[in-house]
Amino acid sequence: MAAAVSAAVSLPSSKSTSRSARTNVFSPDGINFKVSLPYRNVSAGGKVFTVRAQVTTEAVEAPAKVEKVSKKMDEGVVVNKYRPKDPYIGRCLLNTKITGDDAPGETWHMVFTTEGEVPYREGQSIGVIPDGIDKNGKPHKLRLYSIASSALGDFGDSKTVSLCVKRLVYTNDQGEIVKGVCSNFLCDLKPGSDVKITGPVGKEMLMPKDPTATVIMLATGTGIAPFRSFLWKMFFEKYDDYKFNGLAWLFLGVPTSSSLLYKEEFEKMKEKAPDNFRLDFAVSREQTNEKGEKMYIQTRMAQYAEELWELLKKDNTYVYMCGLKGMEKGIDDIMVSLAAKDGIDWMAYKKQLKKAEQWNVEVY
Ligand SMILES: Cc1cc2nc3c(=O)[nH]c(=O)nc-3n(C[C@H](O)[C@H](O)[C@H](O)COP(=O)(O)OP(=O)(O)OC[C@H]3O[C@@H](n4cnc5c(N)ncnc54)[C@H](O)[C@@H]3O)c2cc1C
Ligand SMILES: NC(=O)c1ccc[n+]([C@@H]2O[C@H](COP(=O)([O-])OP(=O)(O)OC[C@H]3O[C@@H](n4cnc5c(N)ncnc54)[C@H](OP(=O)(O)O)[C@@H]3O)[C@@H](O)[C@H]2O)c1
Repeated sequence: MAAAVSAAVSLPSSKSTSRSARTNVFSPDGINFKVSLPYRNVSAGGKVFTVRAQVTTEAVEAPAKVEKVSKKMDEGVVVNKYRPKDPYIGRCLLNTKITGDDAPGETWHMVFTTEGEVPYREGQSIGVIPDGIDKNGKPHKLRLYSIASSALGDFGDSKTVSLCVKRLVYTNDQGEIVKGVCSNFLCDLKPGSDVKITGPVGKEMLMPKDPTATVIMLATGTGIAPFRSFLWKMFFEKYDDYKFNGLAWLFLGVPTSSSLLYKEEFEKMKEKAPDNFRLDFAVSREQTNEKGEKMYIQTRMAQYAEELWELLKKDNTYVYMCGLKGMEKGIDDIMVSLAAKDGIDWMAYKKQLKKAEQWNVEVY
């Protein structure tokens, strides 16, 4: 089985460090090469759905959801191949700042070698064990990071894994500036350096197999990572056995336009597949709604409330949420009022969506 990768775009960066031999991979003209896929077939394509669920105004019970074959039972999804006692040693190939100089905080995109030994799927995470020791003289514990590349990796050869990492820096109660151990280790990593990798882990955020599905992706900040991975598979890669032909709708919330992550890539996808990809940004410190309220991701979603609610009633709509913990409540709040209009108890309905793997959350 073969897959071709085409079209990658440059990562916006004011300062970047990368191995020069590799920088052509992100050229605006794109790349084009053939590679082998490390995993099994998924179901073949179909046409854009037109199904609409029936609207009921009388039901007070949540409508029953059809149970599907669980993505968590998928054969071939590897978890915990590498554990902290015996991690995989990858090498950093590229590390690029992808937020502007005036952005509040820095986010970096980095690529590590795996030589195909860390076989991950879109939506999984890896652990990273930073170099050095903690204040008790013990090796640092691992931190988890959502994988930001598709299973083929940014170079299309299934031999790399990419991350999108925010540098954590905060002022503690004593007024001291504190730097997060692992995020600073990663953001400072130079090409050529080794990195200890564990995993892969996680099944919650695996992609739906149905290529005609509606996939609604809700990200704040670096919560974009798994969705970049989904979207590369959907729009930048070619597979014999998978052609996305549904609707992918990404909502991304960031503080400033200079912190919009992977914007050029997403715009390129929209150009390539205008009927299959919708893209909405919520830039919290620059935009407001008509009431003058701060534009959070849920504020942007509220502008499409009716449409989103109709989509959510379909059996092949899948919602994924990733990023700040606080976003979950904000999104629940708008869903409560939408569901109530149809006489549906949102929390009960959400429970069913979760059971049917149509509501997938990884927030922190
Ligand atoms: C499944 C999963 C996926 C993740 N994916 C990503 C990802 O893709 N990208 C990403 O950047 N991160 C991601 N994270 C978060 C990541 O694991 C780390 O928690 C993060 O990078 C911080 O780690 P650190 O070692 O730099 O900070 P640490 O040295 O571990 O410090 C963090 C600690 O500092 C304290 N702290 C933090 N902020 C403040 C504050 N403002 N005031 C006071 N105290 C504070 C808290 O006690 C916190 O526990 C993910 C987490 C999970 C669970
Ligand atoms: N799988 C995971 O669990 C996973 C994966 C990746 C990242 N993460 C975590 O996700 C977080 C992302 O942080 P970041 O620093 O990358 O993001 P960021 O760049 O600061 O962007 C976060 C955006 O969300 C907004 N926001 C703040 N509170 C919100 C709320 N209650 N509801 C909706 N939006 C809200 C922020 O607005 P204002 O700042 O203007 O208020 C900002 O626009 C980190 O904590 C990271 O560790 C988790």
